[in-house]
Amino acid sequence: MTDLRIGPLDDLDDGRGRRIDVDDVRLAVFRVDDEVYAIGDRCSHAEASLAEGEVFDGEVECPRHGAAFDLVTGSPLSLPATKPVPTYPARVIDGDVVVTLIASDESEGEG
Ligand code: FES
Repeated sequence: MTDLRIGPLDDLDDGRGRRIDVDDVRLAVFRVDDEVYAIGDRCSHAEASLAEGEVFDGEVECPRHGAAFDLVTGSPLSLPATKPVPTYPARVIDGDVVVTLIASDESEGEG
């Protein structure tokens, strides 16, 4: 388990994602108001960057083919994606965003 300090919450735009690469793990970190969410950045359909997707109502929409994913559970909410993306515990500590690199789905980073 590794806690990764991403940087100040204030550096993240509300409602936007940021891609963070850590070794072979690609994270997409999102700020929604004062909450933060971290999911695997690779869309489970065809690996587009979910950090570049639009965020609304607790979901991110893949920029390539439009599948939506739940930011909390990583579950696909619409086609063409049918598999979840991993999620990572994320929180704010002393104003900084901290993500724990234990995925809900350990398949992230393989292959
Ligand atoms: S790559 Fe994301 S829906 Fe196709």
